Amino acid sequence: MSFINTLPYISNPIGEFSDYKYVNWEAKIYPEFKGGVRRSEMEFFAKLIKEKKLKSLLDLGLGGGNDLSGIVRTLRKKNYPPACAEANEVDDEFIRQSRTLFKKEKLDIQIHKANWIDLPYAVPEYTHLFDWAMLIGNSLTYIGGGTRDYTKKAQQSVIGKFARLIRRGGYLFIDSRNYDYILSLMNLPIEEIFNKFTFAQTIYYHGFQKKILVFPAYISETVVVLHYYDKSKKIWSKLDLYPVYLKDMLDILSKDFEIEKIYHDFKPGAKTKSLFIQYLARKK
Ligand SMILES: C[S@@+](CC[C@H](N)C(=O)[O-])C[C@H]1O[C@@H](n2cnc3c(N)ncnc32)[C@H](O)[C@@H]1O
Repeated sequence: MSFINTLPYISNPIGEFSDYKYVNWEAKIYPEFKGGVRRSEMEFFAKLIKEKKLKSLLDLGLGGGNDLSGIVRTLRKKNYPPACAEANEVDDEFIRQSRTLFKKEKLDIQIHKANWIDLPYAVPEYTHLFDWAMLIGNSLTYIGGGTRDYTKKAQQSVIGKFARLIRRGGYLFIDSRNYDYILSLMNLPIEEIFNKFTFAQTIYYHGFQKKILVFPAYISETVVVLHYYDKSKKIWSKLDLYPVYLKDMLDILSKDFEIEKIYHDFKPGAKTKSLFIQYLARKK
């Protein structure tokens, strides 16, 4: 049996997809992988925002803009339109996708271009604090370094910058993939990784395993390389991600926030196997 968790797969497609063309993740993989939004997920966010009477919203990792536009539309349907909705994005391709979507949906959402590490500096600049900031779809994981401790410190620094954009008593909703579960798959043979990286439902990314085959091709405590294969177009891409472990996230958040609730794939409570772990944290 061949092991999947080997170094060649950091940069190369696995054997059966060796003739696939490497493509840009944001432009060619993300739209199919995202596959639109699910109503129940938008309801989950809209309910929380309305219940807590939050008025100004900020999406810190806008991506293609589907989630933020879905939340704003759902809030309007609930007769609770946000007083303002703004977004942060660093990637030009994502800014382009979001602008197109917002124009189509006639949404007035200001996009601030900024690298998180430069915050609060942004173009255009931020002019006020927010009641609700969110970073969803496994995004903090882009930040990190060569050791688990370095990653934790770098992520801590970014969370500190997010905190400066949120008013006292406001909320940060943030998630990451369940890296504790992914780490438990380290050293398994390829067939078992495929079997164990299947889930009863999809979260956020509704093209997952239907349109885009995704799995961790390389796993270590400090780096996880996710491979993305589009079988219909014979293209592939990958992301090298820095794991966010549950214990580390609790430490990181607790500096500026009280953690109010933890969810696994939108359900409260602890779980070993899940796609995403989500944290609702209140600014101290
Ligand atoms: C996995 S995507 C999530 C997109 C979107 N929230 C969704 O669920 O579809 C991660 C997002 O984080 C953004 N991002 C990653 N590193 C960043 C950084 N250093 N500064 C600002 N944004 C960053 C990416 O451009 C992208 O929009």
